[in-house]
Amino acid sequence: MSQPTAPPAREYDEYNGAPALVEVGRAVFGEDYRGQKSSVWPADLVAMTRRAGLDTSGHFLDAGCGSGWASAVLSEQIGCTGEAWDVSASNAALAHDLLAPAGRVTARQRDFHNTDGYEHAFGLVLSIGAVYWSDDPTRLARSWAALLRPGGAVLVFLSQLVDDDGAPIALAGTSPTAAACDWPATFAAAGLDVEVSDQTSRFVLWLDRWTTELDARRDAVERELGTDGWAEFRGRFDALHLAAADGRLVRTALIGRAAAQVSGGAGR
Ligand SMILES: C[S@@+](CC[C@H](N)C(=O)[O-])C[C@H]1O[C@@H](n2cnc3c(N)ncnc32)[C@H](O)[C@@H]1O
Repeated sequence: MSQPTAPPAREYDEYNGAPALVEVGRAVFGEDYRGQKSSVWPADLVAMTRRAGLDTSGHFLDAGCGSGWASAVLSEQIGCTGEAWDVSASNAALAHDLLAPAGRVTARQRDFHNTDGYEHAFGLVLSIGAVYWSDDPTRLARSWAALLRPGGAVLVFLSQLVDDDGAPIALAGTSPTAAACDWPATFAAAGLDVEVSDQTSRFVLWLDRWTTELDARRDAVERELGTDGWAEFRGRFDALHLAAADGRLVRTALIGRAAAQVSGGAGR
C-alpha cells in the first residue's frame, strides 16, 4: 500500500519557484509568511489546533505540508514535535530547509495515504488545503484515522465550491472525487467524531488581500508564468470571488476526534 494514489501537484513545483508570487505572499502575510500556498491565517491555525487538543507534549503530522510553514508555527507556538510529509520532492526539500535547523519536525517526501510504519503515531494529523488531490477520500480518511493515537484528532482545512447548478467544481489539476466528497461524513465513517467550523469569512479576507496584491504585481507575475499562465492562474481567483459572492464557496475547518481508548470489540 505504499504507492502514491494522488498525482504530484506539479503546479506547486512550478509556482514555488516564482519569485513574484513569493512577493505576493509576503505582502499578504507579512512577517508570518513562510512560503504558505494556502489561505489559512497562522492565528487561526493555532486556535484550531488548540481546539483539536494538541498540546506541548503532542506529536503531529503535517499532511501535504508544502513549504512546512504550518509545522514551523505549531512547533514554535505550541512547542510540540512532528513530521511534515509532501508527495512533491521540491516541497519536501523546502520543508526540510525550513524545519531542520530547529530539529523539532522531520520533513519527508511521502504520500499521505501511506500509513506504513506510522500506525497510531500521531496526536494530530493536520492538513491544510491538500485533500483536494486525493482520488480516494475513503482511503484517506481511514488512513488518517489509523495514524492517530487514542484520543488524537485530524484537523483539516478545506474549501469546496459548486457551480450555479450545485455541481461540485474541482480546481485545475485536483480530483473531481475529492471536490464532490462529503468530507464530514467520510471522516465519520472512518470512526471519528466530527466537528465542523465555518471559516468562510476568513477565506474571503485572504482572497481579497491576495487578489489585490497579485494584481499589484501583474507585470512581474506575468513575466514569470507567461501570458497564458497568468490568465489561467488569475482566472481561478475570479472564479473564487464569484463563488464566494454567490454563497457557492464554503471554507471549513474539520476536526475529527478518535476515541480516547481503543475499542476491544465490535460495536460501541
Ligand atoms: C495547496 S498546497 C498546501 C501546502 C501547505 N499545506 C500550505 O498550507 O501551504 C497542497 C500540497 O499538498 C501536496 N499533496 C498533494 N497530494 C499529496 C499526497 N498524496 N501526499 C502528500 N502530499 C500531497 C502538494 O504537493 C502540495 O504541496
